[in-house]
Amino acid sequence: MSQKKMTIADLQQKKAAGLKITMVTAYDYPTAHLADQAKIDTILVGDSLGMVVLGYDTTVPVSMDEMIHHCKAVCRGSKGSFIIGDMPFMSYQVSIERAIENAGRFIKEAGCDSVKLEGGREMSPVVRAIVDAGIPVCAHIGLTPQTATKLSGFRVQGKDAESGRKLIEDAKALETAGAFMIVMECIPDLLAARITKTLTIPTIGIGAGKDCDGQVLVYHDLVGLFERFTPKFVKQYVNLAPQIRRALSEYKKEVEEGVFPGAEHSFAMSAEEAEKM
Ligand code: KIV
Repeated sequence: MSQKKMTIADLQQKKAAGLKITMVTAYDYPTAHLADQAKIDTILVGDSLGMVVLGYDTTVPVSMDEMIHHCKAVCRGSKGSFIIGDMPFMSYQVSIERAIENAGRFIKEAGCDSVKLEGGREMSPVVRAIVDAGIPVCAHIGLTPQTATKLSGFRVQGKDAESGRKLIEDAKALETAGAFMIVMECIPDLLAARITKTLTIPTIGIGAGKDCDGQVLVYHDLVGLFERFTPKFVKQYVNLAPQIRRALSEYKKEVEEGVFPGAEHSFAMSAEEAEKM
């Protein structure tokens, strides 16, 4: 039986019913397929791609072409999850026309269901224009990694009343602009709870406490495949890197010692045929 595709209405209904929304990042076909099989509601093809897959120091260098390439693979791997393509740095800031054009590539070329972009109320006109063009937009506030330098580094946002109030206003402006969902990264749990209560659209937290409408984690953090650093908000559900290293070392040893391939991995030819060769 074919899997039912998650929709924006389904996500909205989950919020209304108090049911938590699940989101994980994915960057390739096999991961998307696994997330789909686990019935994860939404897959984010995050620009974290740059750090966990492409080996850049930050998300800033990620290009539109890199995002589209990986979004295509994810869309081939997932049938049921709602897929969000992350707009990379400078793909939506230069002009509204460029923002609409680039958002359109995620839908037309890659097959994504929606796009995500970072920023507060200053991004409202861009969100409005992309939504008016027929493309659903997920907003992203709090710690916005593309502009971490402006925020003086990767630090918790909205820790005092004034900056907290500003984030509440940002969230409201983005909802009014037409965003269907909002990711909140690295903000105090009480602030995230307040925003979640204030908005009618679902909120997805990462380092934002348990009272958001849903949660997102970067796949490579969740399964222990990114070893450079682990943020405080990450829970590692399995530690795959040491297991993969062990498997690779065992493979190397068996090849070097002539143990692999064994007869069970080889193809036979009769002695008669071999003789005639
Ligand atoms: O790029 C990404 O993976 C993200 C999540 C951390 C929300 O933006």
